[in-house]
Amino acid sequence: MDKIALVTGGTRGIGAGISRALKRSGYAVAASYNNDTAAAESFREVTGIPVFSWNVADFDACEAGVRSVCAAMEGDIDILVNNAGVTKDVMLHKMDPANWRWVLETNLTSLFNMCRIVVPKMREKRYGRIINISSVNGIKGQVGQTNYAAAKAGVLGFTKALALESAAKGITVNAVAPGYISTDMTRAIKNDIMEQIIGDIPVGRFGRVDEVAEAVLFLVTDAAAFITGTVLSVNGGQHM
Ligand code: CAA
Repeated sequence: MDKIALVTGGTRGIGAGISRALKRSGYAVAASYNNDTAAAESFREVTGIPVFSWNVADFDACEAGVRSVCAAMEGDIDILVNNAGVTKDVMLHKMDPANWRWVLETNLTSLFNMCRIVVPKMREKRYGRIINISSVNGIKGQVGQTNYAAAKAGVLGFTKALALESAAKGITVNAVAPGYISTDMTRAIKNDIMEQIIGDIPVGRFGRVDEVAEAVLFLVTDAAAFITGTVLSVNGGQHM
């Protein structure tokens, strides 16, 4: 039977690229989304990948969501890609507490929610692949992103700790840290700032979603069974 993969935030941006790449490689893929039903429906029509709506920041919603994915896919989740994420960039001295909580809960608490629900079955089955999407800005920081950088740095610590807990159970847990990739999220950056950012990328361009998806694909294969607790940067050479 095909392995079942769930990609959170898997209908748009980097997540959509990961969902498509996993499907192309023969996995049974489900994609979750939160708000954009129109985008999710058109993604489902084009790709044939089933889509499920819930808020990854909400533990109970994650439990119900995972239950509906497992029922529809007729099996447990073998591969979990924690990709769902948001930005709300603003300098710290202007950031309100609701902004901080929203970004932390969506980008980091979501990993606790999803893994807490999915990992017990993986431990029972002695198999699992978990890929957490971090960011170059969780490694190097970025102006206007104390919220996002803190959450994405937290993703790295979470990944390493869960990898240690899971290593003897056949479950690998790794992070992929994309740099600036062409998606709706980066298209929202103002033009002058965009120019400045491209100037800081040694390869001289933004990355493509398929370039991130390829890294994820490698980490879920059996060939990567000895790789766990690591961070794979896909950032055009933007190492500080
Ligand atoms: N380094 C140091 N200081 C900087 C800076 C930089 N790169 N960029 C701006 N500043 C300074 C400015 O000089 C200014 O200082 P003064 O107040 O002393 O003049 C101050 O920061 C505020 O700058 P702005 O006037 O631009 O403030 P703003 O409120 O209009 O905008 C901002 C602030 C929204 C954070 C804007 O700077 C911005 O959009 N930055 C880009 C943030 C970014 O890269 N986001 C990534 C989104 S995509 C993503 O996150 C995906 C991923 O994983 C990579």
